[in-house]
Amino acid sequence: MTSPRVSVRNLTKIYKTKRGSHVALDNVSLDIDAGEFVVLLGPSGCGKTTLLRCIAGLEEPDAGEIIIDGKLVFSSEKGVYVPPERRDLSMVFQSYALWPHLSVLDNVVYPLRNTGKSSADASVLAKEALAKVGLGDYSARFPGQLSGGQQQRVALARAIVSGDGLILFDEPLSNLDAKVRERLRLELLSLQSQINFSAVYVTHDQIEALALADRIAVMDVGRIAQVGSPEQIYDYPNSRYVADFIGSANEFAGTVKSVGDVLTVETAIGELEVGNFHSDLVAGQPVWLVVRPEHCSFDGVGEGYNRFSGTLVRTLYLGASRQHFVETAAGELVVTTQTPIAVGEKEPVTIGCAPQRIHAFPREV
Ligand SMILES: Nc1ncnc2c1ncn2[C@@H]1O[C@H](COP(=O)(O)OP(=O)(O)OP(=O)(O)O)[C@@H](O)[C@H]1O
Ligand SMILES: [Mg+2]
Repeated sequence: MTSPRVSVRNLTKIYKTKRGSHVALDNVSLDIDAGEFVVLLGPSGCGKTTLLRCIAGLEEPDAGEIIIDGKLVFSSEKGVYVPPERRDLSMVFQSYALWPHLSVLDNVVYPLRNTGKSSADASVLAKEALAKVGLGDYSARFPGQLSGGQQQRVALARAIVSGDGLILFDEPLSNLDAKVRERLRLELLSLQSQINFSAVYVTHDQIEALALADRIAVMDVGRIAQVGSPEQIYDYPNSRYVADFIGSANEFAGTVKSVGDVLTVETAIGELEVGNFHSDLVAGQPVWLVVRPEHCSFDGVGEGYNRFSGTLVRTLYLGASRQHFVETAAGELVVTTQTPIAVGEKEPVTIGCAPQRIHAFPREV
């Protein structure tokens, strides 16, 4: 077993403000392995940037420990705090953070000053990194002469040469338009497979998280709600919160009738069989049922499927898919299909849904 590149243990960060204090991180623990791409995903204000800044040493946490490459860089108990410049990592920010008065090459060379490298060696390394991000011909330009996507590539080249293959990203693609974002997402992945850096990558864009991550840590105010591969997070969310945050989710209330291989749940649209549930659910327990729009259908209602009826309210054409809003006794549900359906608005429909696509979570009443 190799040890993790970054180990965050029981980290708590409390911001003191004039009006009191705010717990931005509440006992957070997370490991990032060598060569691993870990994405911190969560809504605005949940503490993603704070966690990243704590790892970088830009914030001092109130409790817990951070270990980077086996070295303790923060411990509240032991009074250890290693400053950012001695943590051997690099950062890429949303705002690029380039020096406007330095050329592209000098921006990338900049972090190599005072590292003991000769300026000739530093220049070679910087040129190699610029070539890797596709900017080999842009060394002499200044940041103001580049597009946003190109400026972020310079920041990426700088991150590659500095630090020790551990890169922290804070929403690096958020300022770019959709096409450039998609392009850079792919480039980031191929760069990572070439040089195998380890990444902690903050975003609130779920598509970006799913596309880039080896593992996603979904954050809820100050805590980690679930950590897992993109497939685990998307297909097996461990809570209503995670199911709701990633992808879209239909939710409706029910009460557990019986527990067996599947759960039988009474709902306003009838009895449903539910395949995904935690073993501690018991009969009589109020639950939320969650099912994704693309896991409901109007056809393919095979044996063993749940079936329930409703009325089609509206269909939105979205190019690659169609989104259908259906009024049911349990409220409005959304069904996504790839192809048109032969039902008009205000007409009755039957929705089918496989038990293993429905998740049950305890419901507070
Ligand atoms: N310097 C600070 N002083 C006081 N409160 C702060 C400070 N920095 C952040 N906070 C608060 O801590 C919480 C977490 O902030 P953080 O910047 O980590 O969120 P985030 O998940 O990165 O959000 P976003 O997606 O909007 O960037 C927020 O409620 C924020 O208001
Ligand atoms: Mg942030």
